[in-house]
Amino acid sequence: MSSHDAPTEYSLYPPPADAVAHAHVSGQAAYDALCAEAEADYAGYWARLARELISWKTPFTQVLDESNAPFFKWFADGTLNASYNCLDRNIERGLGDKTAIIFEADGGEVRRVSYKELLAIVNKMANGLKSLGVQKGDRVIIYLSMGIEGVAAMQACARIGATHSVVFGGFSAQSLRDRIEDTGAVAVITADQQQRGGKALPLKTIVDEAIALGGCGSVKHVLVHKRTGADIPFDASRDLWLADLVAGQSEVCEPEWVEAEHPLFLLYTSGSTGKPKGVQHSTGGYLLHAALTTKWTFDLKDDDVFWCTADIGWVTGHTYITYGPLALGGTEIVFEGVPTFPDAGRFWKMIQDHKVSIFYTAPTAIRSLIKAAEATESVHPKNYDLSSLRILGSVGEPINPAAWEWYHKHVGGGRCPIVDTFWQTETGGHMITPLPGVTTLVPGSCTLPFPGIQAAVVDETGKDVPWGQGGILVVKKPWPSMIRTIWGDPERFKKSYYPADFHGKYYLAGDGAIRDPKTGYFTITGRIDDVLNVSGHRMGTMEIESALVSHTELVAEAAVVGRPDDTTGEAICAFVVLKRPRPTGDEAKKLAAELRNWVAKEIGPIAKPKDIRFGENLPKTRSGKIMRRLLRSIARGEAITQDTSTLENPAILDQLSQTN
Ligand code: WT7
Repeated sequence: MSSHDAPTEYSLYPPPADAVAHAHVSGQAAYDALCAEAEADYAGYWARLARELISWKTPFTQVLDESNAPFFKWFADGTLNASYNCLDRNIERGLGDKTAIIFEADGGEVRRVSYKELLAIVNKMANGLKSLGVQKGDRVIIYLSMGIEGVAAMQACARIGATHSVVFGGFSAQSLRDRIEDTGAVAVITADQQQRGGKALPLKTIVDEAIALGGCGSVKHVLVHKRTGADIPFDASRDLWLADLVAGQSEVCEPEWVEAEHPLFLLYTSGSTGKPKGVQHSTGGYLLHAALTTKWTFDLKDDDVFWCTADIGWVTGHTYITYGPLALGGTEIVFEGVPTFPDAGRFWKMIQDHKVSIFYTAPTAIRSLIKAAEATESVHPKNYDLSSLRILGSVGEPINPAAWEWYHKHVGGGRCPIVDTFWQTETGGHMITPLPGVTTLVPGSCTLPFPGIQAAVVDETGKDVPWGQGGILVVKKPWPSMIRTIWGDPERFKKSYYPADFHGKYYLAGDGAIRDPKTGYFTITGRIDDVLNVSGHRMGTMEIESALVSHTELVAEAAVVGRPDDTTGEAICAFVVLKRPRPTGDEAKKLAAELRNWVAKEIGPIAKPKDIRFGENLPKTRSGKIMRRLLRSIARGEAITQDTSTLENPAILDQLSQTN
């Protein structure tokens, strides 16, 4: 059976009885009732939830506005503030002294902040930003490692109506520059350095490099959080220590009440063509789904300790660290570092130490920790007290059944439901996911749509395909937390998600899916565009190809494909034609290393090809089109079964099969 077929035989894991009895969505009938409510009155369903979960300054009277489809609006005449919803209102409800964040640093130091304390930090930052002239609608880039400051910086932007755009701390100066230029940001919030796996890595010097690359004239201020105390260059005309900026500021800051459609953030993600796109999210609809999915998918309750291991540089960190859990008044863990430092027992030790009850991580982390636990007895989860756990989550890529079973047995002690949550940067929150008190689980399936989400599998003409038949994953109706547009490029938004030549009406996720013939459960079969998923990180093949050919001295042509990898899910494989004779032996190794570093510099280390193969040419059709399917087979080490009669030079297939 290939991984793209629907499972035909599997173990079933019914929901635990206490979850069925006590979960926010409790039992199948409750799930069915919610789906029926949405079916009967779609707008009314979301309006009810938006009134229940969100505090509005001005209540909305409009719900869904489809007049300018596919640029949908939700709750458009309502006003609110995201940071008020995440902080002040919890304090007003008596949660002021409750721990909001437990932060554990790379070296193991722990710092806790209560809701009151977090609000004070956010307000001082918000007032500091205001004192520099940052105002509603301005964009602010956040390039920080994980910490309370990162979450606070995002909340501070939200408080004053500035639109944040967080750039993952692993991206290069070039990638950072591109995002600064595209957003036209007025300020960058960064740190002197970041701490990862016992090593101090640069941040501020990368910001300097990015600005020196040009095109960043919009940036008036660079605010620097002191993380390690390293000696860093300072440009007095532009740079300011964050501590100095907030020192004299008031702990009170009236929230800027914004319209529901006001852009809360931009987050860049890879598409199949061109540069990464700035996914624009709203305030009202986004915050609703962040809060609602945290409540229903994770069943977050007052006494839970919630831990999402993502970085705030990804959407998972936005929705399930900065916004969702705080909007519900939860207690959450924020962690700095990597799962394997000081050893591969870090996650299990943190769950034990902080009595984590809900744990949300990525399959790639699970797989690497399985390997580590199999190699080193002492980091196996069985050595830790994980009895506080009640719900586990998975996100970012398909979880293979073997990893699922291990996670369930060894981490969850066989008691904890695993919610395999399918969603995307563009969807803002969970789309297809089990609910812990409802769903009978099948390893490897994200099961059924979140109540209200109209997910379906269709063919090229937009017609539903029968269960058991693979097709294209779509969402038939707009939902509150969906992407609003691509920043500065509404045409690209339409082309990417609502292409006219497809069906025009449905949101196109970019993934394939198949539904189980008996249960209707969804299994995601992977991207149907040229987007790779490496360790849960999304990478466009074209982006990596452009980075390679931008080495104009060396590279004539490049083609990038993915191949399955046991640990990272997919691995990047690049086929390169050089502007010099095809290298072999040590020369090939040396040049492959140079090109890997080049890609790391152009995009970031996460985009480094695992394999680089050199050829005198690439396999092309007579019309000059690269035969990617052939390259995929070569990358997988499979025998070539495709028709190669149209190839000009079949000998290059042998060349390209050789690894360096
Ligand atoms: C792509 C979105 C979801 C936030 C983190 C990644 C893949 C995501 C699953 C899952 C199978 C998944 C899809 C999707 N994906 N979750 N549970 N099962 N595939 O967000 O970087 O926007 O990537 O990740 O291919 O399109 P992203």
